[in-house]
Amino acid sequence: MRPLVETLRGRPVERTPVWVMRQAGRHLPEYRKLRADVSFVEAVDDPDIAAEITLQPIRRYDMDGAVIFADIMTPLQAMGVEVDFAPGPKLRPHTLAEVAALGPLDPPGIESVLETIRRVRSAVPDSCAVIGFSGSPVTLLAYLLEGGGSKDFMRMRAALAADPGLAADALGVLSSAMHDYLQLQIRAGADVVQLFDSWVGVLDRTNIRNFAVPAARSILANLDAPTIYFGPHAPHAIDLFPTIGATAYGIDWRTGLAEAGRRLAGKPLQGNLDPATLFADPPTIRAEVMRVLADAAGLPGHVFNLGHGIDRHTDPDHVQVMVEAVRS
Ligand code: CP3
Repeated sequence: MRPLVETLRGRPVERTPVWVMRQAGRHLPEYRKLRADVSFVEAVDDPDIAAEITLQPIRRYDMDGAVIFADIMTPLQAMGVEVDFAPGPKLRPHTLAEVAALGPLDPPGIESVLETIRRVRSAVPDSCAVIGFSGSPVTLLAYLLEGGGSKDFMRMRAALAADPGLAADALGVLSSAMHDYLQLQIRAGADVVQLFDSWVGVLDRTNIRNFAVPAARSILANLDAPTIYFGPHAPHAIDLFPTIGATAYGIDWRTGLAEAGRRLAGKPLQGNLDPATLFADPPTIRAEVMRVLADAAGLPGHVFNLGHGIDRHTDPDHVQVMVEAVRS
């Protein structure tokens, strides 16, 4: 019995399952030590190292989910795109036509991720769910066109406006590759998959309806495991998300879970403690955890998480306080 999977399926569980986005990474001293002499790409490409990093937060916190150590940009390398991390993704800015012409996912290019999943599945306790993931087409397109991070992803927004037909083709290429990628992760042992639509919120409601929702829907259709769609910073479009057809939805810290629940009628939700709360003292952290749990009380299912990835400067002892508060 995996409480995370049961909750996503809308079945009753004894206690709320908990994991943290970006739990495998820089807030952990054991991660920083391991990464001292290997690059991010080397770590992801080596299933021994990637599995070890994935397991670090499981050992420390006994999380209910183990999110595989890789990046949303990792599978693009298996489509012929060169990506570096410094530490955010750095790549040559692509044109929309170049993205539309990308080849399908070459399976040997993602074999190390699949091998990491197999190793993690056999190493974690039976009750722990293995979480696979991919980036959404809109978010991947944003990085591909920009060549890296940006605060507003102007090039992606400009491209959708300038050539909607070609943009739809480019998103279609990314959707079909990410669908295959998620299905391969599930076959390798992922119990749950999450779609990260980190930058959907830069789009207006019409573009979310016309581009982001259909792209996400086509990725998640016909997958053999429960799915979580995480589209943060998009309170102007939450009510459009049910048509994506995910099993559950991740909510960022800005929208209360009860409010999100009303707008996503009948779906289990994941979230949504503000990551900044973990910088407060333990009594404050406990009180805020209780507030999130109370807000989630009427939902058909609740997976406790932060409302965004954990900040790298977070004290691991404070994460422990949070996990214990969820379980107490
Ligand atoms: O615990 C986990 O979630 C580990 C796996 C994971 C990573 N990135 C590892 C990583 C996951 C699920 C991601 C997702 C990811 N990557 C997203 C979606 C989630 C979100 O935050 O919205 C996005 C947008 C990216 C792109 C990306 N990769 C950025 C913006 C950065 C820089 C982050 C930073 O804090 O500087 C990365 C690099 C990256 N991905 C790191 C890690 C651990 C840092 C690399 C390092 O340690 O040197």
